[in-house]
Amino acid sequence: TNTYSIKELLKGTALLQEVTAKGWIRTFRSNRFIALNDGSTIHNIQCVVDFENTPESTLKRLTTGAAIAVTGTLVESQGKGQKFEIQVKDLEVLGDSDPETYPIQPKKHSLEFLREKAHLRVRTNTFSAVMRVRSALSFAIHQYFQQNGFYYVNTPVITGSDAEGAGEMFRVSTLDAKNPPLTEEGSVNYKEDFFGKETNLTVSGQLEAETYAMGLGKVYTFGPTFRAENSNTSRHLAEFWMIEPEVAFMDLDGNMDLAEDFIKYVLGYILEHCADDLEFLENRLLQEEKSKPQSERSEMTLREKIRFVLDNNFKRVSYTEAIDILKSSKPNKKKKFQYLIEEWGADLQSEHERYLVEKHFKAPVILFDYPAKIKAFYMRLNEDGNTVRAMDILFPGIGEIVGGSQREERLDVLLEKVKEMGIDEEELWWYLDLRKFGTAVHSGFGLGFERLVLFATGMTNIRDVIPFPRTPQNAEF
Ligand code: 4AD
Ligand code: MG
Repeated sequence: TNTYSIKELLKGTALLQEVTAKGWIRTFRSNRFIALNDGSTIHNIQCVVDFENTPESTLKRLTTGAAIAVTGTLVESQGKGQKFEIQVKDLEVLGDSDPETYPIQPKKHSLEFLREKAHLRVRTNTFSAVMRVRSALSFAIHQYFQQNGFYYVNTPVITGSDAEGAGEMFRVSTLDAKNPPLTEEGSVNYKEDFFGKETNLTVSGQLEAETYAMGLGKVYTFGPTFRAENSNTSRHLAEFWMIEPEVAFMDLDGNMDLAEDFIKYVLGYILEHCADDLEFLENRLLQEEKSKPQSERSEMTLREKIRFVLDNNFKRVSYTEAIDILKSSKPNKKKKFQYLIEEWGADLQSEHERYLVEKHFKAPVILFDYPAKIKAFYMRLNEDGNTVRAMDILFPGIGEIVGGSQREERLDVLLEKVKEMGIDEEELWWYLDLRKFGTAVHSGFGLGFERLVLFATGMTNIRDVIPFPRTPQNAEF
């Protein structure tokens, strides 16, 4: 007999044939019906056990979580809730699961509880659906860039440079903690960290991606990045994945077009290819919404929200316009939006971003031309001398999902900026070289992968969309 995935079996093409399926028991009821899942789909296949001819010793081992192999005939099911089932002829327990100690019971567990069981939570419907959507998004991301003439580059994970200049880096050290090398002044000499250099885990592959864009033309990275920020929010991880395209001869307008087109493509891809999982996640969300007061319930379902993003232009608004909108908006009585009055030059807080996206424009927003003072050193200075060609994309329910910019391609302007910000020029010699040899206008952006997965799945905590979240509390696995 042939072994099939449950996804294949549920298509029914092997109807009336003898088939084998392997998976983990979700439930076993009336000593007769096994709901079996193998991760290939959100749906289980019902396996009907011939309990009269199955020894009691085997029936006892059919517990939630056990791994089994069943062989039998695939038939149309008379029961409600499924089209097909397997009439089991032969059943083998491959791995037992002690029902007394197996943490994933056939009931609803809280996401908090499951976070502590990160090694087993993928056996629940919610997490398996999220992780399949995550995988599909990864594929769509590569597909988008590959189809559009971009080359995939791998930038270093261990690096000497702080791309964002925010000092939020994890040090990578080979020093003997008990007996570290010292400087002449007697402090630890971190310059000996890694073959004579101070090194860290990368916060962004951008600077290295720029070097490749200035030779391959259009490139993208897709890799892990690290931020040693001690922020315990539902939007921040210490280890997250970032997608960073970088394109030569492209200005900020082109960058906005690219980002919008790219996001729409990958969301369109999952609407088409993850229908079952999205339907499950949508219903999960509807259930959750029921516990909220009417006024706080979302007006759109998960897929309606995704379609809304696909069908509407992102609103392009300059930072200065955004400040004007915030200043002239009436402070909301509810706590959420009470600090709307902002002065030009201030960094926007998430409540301001949410006001713009969720209340004012009711659509994704691309904010551009930020004050130079609140942005990174590499962004191109505008003619006004005050603002830089930066852009952030803000999403409903998420806030910032993309950060990007046109890069400063003029050596003299960049050098001045580097000096002004107190950045060590010698560390950046290779980056400055790009401005000496064939410099050109170029731009790029970074998309936080987990924030995209959050939006696509309707999950609310970033810890629930990455297999093993790294946060200040959560580094056990
Ligand atoms: O805005 P950021 O810091 O931009 C950069 O790193 C640029 N070098 C990107 C570029 O132009 N190539 O980060 C980019 C995105 C953010 O918009 C956000 O979606 C995500 O990365 N991000 C995080 N996601 C999860 N946890 C964190 N701690 C994050 N920090 C940033
Ligand atoms: Mg940012």
